[in-house]
Amino acid sequence: MPATTGMKGAGYYDRHSTAQLSSIQALQDWVEGAVADLPLPAPAQPVTVLDLGSSEGRNAIHLMGAIVAELRRRTDQPLQTIYSDLASNNFNQLFANLEEARRAGRFAAGVYLGAVGGSFYGPLLPPGTVHLATCFNAIHWLDRLPAVPVPDFVGYRRPHSPRPGLAVSPEAAAAFTRQAEQDLVRFLECRARELVPGAKLLLASPGDTDEARVFDGPLDVLNDACLDLVAAGRLEREGYERLTLPCYFRTVAELLAPLEREDFPVRSAFAVDRVEALEVPTPFLVEFRRGGDVAAYAGAYTGSLRAVSEPVVRAALNQPKGEVGTVECLYERIRARLLAEPERYSCRYILVAALLTRR
Ligand SMILES: C[S@@+](CC[C@H](N)C(=O)[O-])C[C@H]1O[C@@H](n2cnc3c(N)ncnc32)[C@H](O)[C@@H]1O
Repeated sequence: MPATTGMKGAGYYDRHSTAQLSSIQALQDWVEGAVADLPLPAPAQPVTVLDLGSSEGRNAIHLMGAIVAELRRRTDQPLQTIYSDLASNNFNQLFANLEEARRAGRFAAGVYLGAVGGSFYGPLLPPGTVHLATCFNAIHWLDRLPAVPVPDFVGYRRPHSPRPGLAVSPEAAAAFTRQAEQDLVRFLECRARELVPGAKLLLASPGDTDEARVFDGPLDVLNDACLDLVAAGRLEREGYERLTLPCYFRTVAELLAPLEREDFPVRSAFAVDRVEALEVPTPFLVEFRRGGDVAAYAGAYTGSLRAVSEPVVRAALNQPKGEVGTVECLYERIRARLLAEPERYSCRYILVAALLTRR
């Protein structure tokens, strides 16, 4: 059972994911490089592209559109484009978006669309059938939440430069690091089976560096707003203590570790073409710095955080009474905090990215 059901649905993620779109756009030249080098099958055979963690699809379709445009520079053979996500994802919206894009002529002739529901920590397509796989803003979601409580915060954070009052137990650090490592190895094992020799795997997700942690701002404001609700009697302390986002933000070294260490089964499966940690602009922060509209900033920031966190928050705070009111109240509290102290929760989007070749 995956630790998340996906993003907030009904088109909400699509409407509140400009930061993720900005991260995809920032890696346009990586996409071009991947397509330029991938091995093409025999001319009558389709080139298969698999996107992992496509959510409702607006951003994934943008990414796939860029890949298709690059592929069409190289070949006019059929292109099979496959979108995948957890079975609980809002696939209705994904299919609606695909149909809209098709009708608008956004896909070249000979592009075939498909979708797979299933976890990327398991096999998704037959062995040796994929020429390019992409995974944006998704592999930081763990397969399962480690069974070590993190009662004093809403998620696990790497224990460097801790905020005063926030301690990370060595047990939590070890358990989260181990889970993230196991998940990544499993992910890479599955992709190693699916990709043909020479195929490309482009991975990009929010991550940490030795100097900076990604998403301190959003995690802090979510945590502080929960504590406000506890103090006001709107949320039971146990609900807050239960809430732990099942995420792990890897460093470049952690992303590459399975490919480099003797004891990992995927050690020789991939060559590293390119790897980097880069900071990408968060549109609502850029806009706020330019125009100073704090209400727009607080609204967009809250929407962005809500789009990714609400399903997990709702499950953790699932109280017998007043659940809907509590969740609404929580995100309203987040917005109020951002309005009152916009700089305190300033958000950094650090993307840890790697382009790999299947050996
Ligand atoms: C933040 S969205 C990213 C969507 C899109 N790739 C983008 O960059 O905008 C993360 C997606 O990863 C999916 N996800 C999380 N864990 C997954 C898993 N184990 N298998 C497949 N998808 C998963 C979530 O359901 C969600 O749709």
